[in-house]
This record gives sequence, C-alpha cells and structure tokens, in this order.
Amino acid sequence: MKDKIIGNKIIHLESIPSTNLYARQILKDKVPEGTIVIADIQTKGRGRKDRSWSSPKGGLWFSFILYPNIAPEQGMLLTMAASVSVAQAIEDLTKIKPVIKWPNDLLIDGKKVCGILTENEVKNGHIVHSIVGIGINVNNDIDKDLKDIAVSIKQILNTDTSQHMLLNTILYKLDINYNLILSKDYDDIKKKWNSYANILGKKIKVEEEKTIVGTVDNIDIDGHLILDTAKGKIKIKTGDITFL
Ligand code: BTN
Repeated sequence: MKDKIIGNKIIHLESIPSTNLYARQILKDKVPEGTIVIADIQTKGRGRKDRSWSSPKGGLWFSFILYPNIAPEQGMLLTMAASVSVAQAIEDLTKIKPVIKWPNDLLIDGKKVCGILTENEVKNGHIVHSIVGIGINVNNDIDKDLKDIAVSIKQILNTDTSQHMLLNTILYKLDINYNLILSKDYDDIKKKWNSYANILGKKIKVEEEKTIVGTVDNIDIDGHLILDTAKGKIKIKTGDITFL
C-alpha cells in the first residue's frame, strides 16, 4: 500500500493490550497518516462505552491513524467510511452481504461480526487526529457468553477466510472511501452506507441518556440519524438502537 494513504506503514505485533491504545501512544512519533497497527491478540481490547472487546487469535484486530482536519460534527463520516469498507470487503471475499447497524456495528444473520471504535481528538474546532479501531470476528471462536449476539465469518462459511486477504481488501477500500471524505464527496459515502444499512423508514428505539422511539427519516450530511418522533424531528448523534 506504499502509494496509498491507508496502510503505507503497517505495524504488526503478536500481542498487545489494545491497538487503539498503541496507536495513541505512537502519535507522538509523528507517524504518517494511514499508519496501521494490527495485533494477533489483544489482551485488553476495548469497545464503545468502555466495554471490553474479546480479541483471541484468529480475528482481525487493528487500528488506523488519520489526520482528517474535518469539523468534529463530521467525525461520524469516518466511522461510516470504515463500516462501508469492511462491509464491501466481506461481501467481495465471501459473497455474504453484512448489514450495517448504526452507528458502528456490522451484523450477519442478526449477530455482530464487526465493531468499530473511533476516537477523535479535537483542537481549534477541527479533528486533528482520529484513531479508528476495527475488530472483526474472522476465524476466531466466540466466547460462550457472547454466542447469542456475536458470530464469526468462519461460523457462517464453515471454513477459514484468509485474514491477510481480508485486511488487504479492507485497506484498499478504506483508501478509496477516505479519499471520498477528503474530496468532500459525502453523498457517495452516504449512498454506499445506506445500501448496507437499510435503515430509512424503519421504526427504532434509541437508548442513550434517555430512550427515544421514532421512524428514521434521514441520515444527515454528518451521519447523524434524523428521527421522526411524537415530538417532531430529533437529531440523534449516538446511541444503541433496536429495530421495533
Ligand atoms: C464496539 O463495537 O464497541 C467497538 C469494538 C472495537 C474493537 C476494536 S478491535 C481493534 C481496536 N482495538 C480496541 O481495543 N478496540 C478496537
């Protein structure tokens, strides 16, 4: 990936606490934009809301570093570009079309196959760096207590998928989709995202500080949900959603 932004530098480690954490530590070394940190095993993988993220051998656990210089409200676009890229790569390699569950999950057969943790640092009204962490259950076993909500690609296909090929395809797609953001082609990202999310017009419940029920009217330019509720249109920036 030498001539691309994403993946021009790849740091591969056997076992570390968390690739997001490692990526944050190497920021001080002024690593190039698009640097990837990938680990075979994470001993302290983290998810959203400080949840732990099970990361045994066989999965893809990696983070990449961006210096996007976009407004904080547009941070969601980075997560959207990441989820679209993973969905495209899984579909290309396995012919299975995952569903993107807003804001950052990928599901197959209703179970989570991938989670994304985007951590943005804002200075002077701009995102100066973003660390996007991606965890994909590829060939790994799923913990007993997660079996009802999580699935690996291996369980679906009954055979191993090349982690190397999957990573390569994701990085290739990411580079294309990140360039769309840099050229402010947000509509294209949104269109691709919508084709995997299929959320428009659906009735959902959002749980964040309080619970809100409504019908998805639109995804705005920044990737936030516009919900039609009993109290009118409401913008939702983040939260856990359930389809009703
Ligand atoms: C979530 O669904 O809550 C997000 C999960 C993100 C997991 C990935 S695995 C690679 C990177 N390193 C981490 O510690 N977390 C992310």
